[in-house]
Order: sequence, then structure tokens, then C-alpha cells
Amino acid sequence: MMIQFPEPLALAQARIEPLLQHYLAGSPEAASRLLSAMRYANLEGGKRLRAALVYTAAQTLGVALEQADSAAVAVELVHTYSLIHDDLPAMDDSPLRRGMPSCHIAYDEATAILAGDALQALAFEVLASDENVAIGTRLKLVHTLATASGLQGMAGGQMIDLVYTGQNQKPGLWELQEMHRLKTGALLQASISMGCICAQLSDLVIQKAILAYGEALGLAYQIQDDILDVVSLEGDLGKPQGHDASLHKMTYPAVVGLEEAYAMRDALYQQGLAALEPIPLDTSRLSTLFAFVVQRSS
Ligand code: IPE
Ligand code: IPE
Ligand code: MG
Ligand code: MG
Ligand code: MG
Repeated sequence: MMIQFPEPLALAQARIEPLLQHYLAGSPEAASRLLSAMRYANLEGGKRLRAALVYTAAQTLGVALEQADSAAVAVELVHTYSLIHDDLPAMDDSPLRRGMPSCHIAYDEATAILAGDALQALAFEVLASDENVAIGTRLKLVHTLATASGLQGMAGGQMIDLVYTGQNQKPGLWELQEMHRLKTGALLQASISMGCICAQLSDLVIQKAILAYGEALGLAYQIQDDILDVVSLEGDLGKPQGHDASLHKMTYPAVVGLEEAYAMRDALYQQGLAALEPIPLDTSRLSTLFAFVVQRSS
């Protein structure tokens, strides 16, 4: 069963849907095939956790949400691109995403590749052209999102994932953690960093604390993703259940076992909450989001 979304996620969802509609404007009939595929993959069913992290970090630091809109949109666009490509036959070969046929099934592989490419480009276009945000701030946002998306972030982590897939040799815990930190943690951490950049955060104590929270949350998120692939009920996930085992993926349950995966996830939750303690502000929304990350069922 789907758990109810906590307030910071509900806020992000309500705020970002019309923004995504705006940036992906065009009536489905008139839209080109490429725009139609981009709309299809983006506009239904995402939890919008990355947008919620941008907004929640910004809000915690006292900045108006308008200042964080383009960052929230951009990170969700990059995330959706990563999901479209992740599902391709050459990667995880997954037919279902967000409860619907994956982009390459609903359209075709070539269109899905191009939709991912165009979403990535659109993310940076949105960030670079937001006239409500100071030029220097825009540059920092572009740099942060680019770094988290590429070789030292999501794409680099996805490469490690694919290299391990199908190998008989299990990676050590350090390699597994590094893979998760890059393929998933980097974009989640970037979401928080982007919220901080929008708020012009310069206090080093707060910066260190909030990044330690993001580091713990990013890893816990992918551990929970791995756990759900094993334990969720068919139909709850909106993507195939048991898919990791069928592909011989190197996941936390596969490498350390299910019980230890739960224990590591819960330890990261405690670590994340402890990391927030030095911040002399109301961090309850950040705590709420971490609680969602470990309790979510989809
Ligand atoms: C799925 O991410 C892929 C991972 C990086 C674990 P989400 O579970 O955040 O997917 P959506 O955006 O809500 O569909
Ligand atoms: C995805 O990891 C990480 C991405 C960068 C998309 P998974 O392959 O486990 O994500 P799901 O389970 O397909 O959503
Ligand atoms: Mg994958
Ligand atoms: Mg996958
Ligand atoms: Mg997964």
C-alpha cells in the first residue's frame, strides 16, 4: 500500500507539476514525437523527492520558493532522463516505470534515447535562463547539477552498476557503497546543495551538517530501493518487482543480505538525523523527508 506523502513532498508535487507542464508545453496532438515522449516520461507518477529536497533545503534556510523553482525543475528533468535510459534494453531492460510502460516501450528505443538527451539539455537550459536568479548563482547551480550528473555522479555510477551486472564476483561493501553514492546519491545530494546555493548559504557549520545529512539520505534511498525490489508487493512499485535478482544486480540485499540491508538503512537514518543537530534552524521538514525515505513502499 502507498503511504501518504508528508507535507514537504506534497508541497513539492503541487508546485512542480505546473512548472513541468510549462517547460514541456505543447498539446499532445500537436507535439512532435520527441516532445510527446518527453512529456510522457515526466508528467505522471514521479514522487518528486529531488524537487522536495531542493525546496525543503531552500525553505529551511529561509529563501522564497520562487528562487528554487528552476533548480527543482532541472533536477527532476535530469532524474527522469536517467530513468528513461536506465530502463533501456541495453541497461536494465525494464518494461514498466511509474506504473506505465517505460518510454522505450510506449515509443521506441531511439525516441527514448533522444528524449533522455533532450531532457538533460532542457534541464540546463531552464537553469541558465531563469532571470529571477542572479547570474553567479545560476552558474553555481549549473556546475553542481552537471557534476552530479556526469562521470563523477549518476552516469559514472550507472557504469559501475553495469560493469558489475552479470559478473559472478561480488563487490566489497566499499565498492557497493561507492556505486550507490554515485548512481543515486549524487543527484539527491545535488538537490540539497542546489537548495543551499539558491539560499546563498555561506555558514560553514550549516553547510557541513546539511551535506552530511544529504550523504546519508542518498545512500539510504538506494538501499531502500534495493530492499523494495525484494520485499514489495507486486503492483505497489510501479516498476517490475524482483528485477534486480533476475538481472543478477549487485544490490545491498544481494551482497550483505536483507536483514543487514535494513540495519544499514536504519543506521543511516539515525546518522542523518544526528547530522542535522548542529543546525540552529527548524530542520523538522528535512527529518520528515528522511523518515519518508526509509518508510516508503514505492
Ligand atoms: C528511482 O527513483 C530510481 C532511483 C534512483 C532509486 P525514484 O524512486 O525517486 O523515482 P520517481 O521519480 O519517484 O519515479
Ligand atoms: C537507478 O538504479 C539509478 C539511476 C540512475 C536511474 P535502479 O536501476 O535500481 O533504479 P530502478 O530500480 O530501475 O528505479
Ligand atoms: Mg539500474
Ligand atoms: Mg533500473
Ligand atoms: Mg532499483
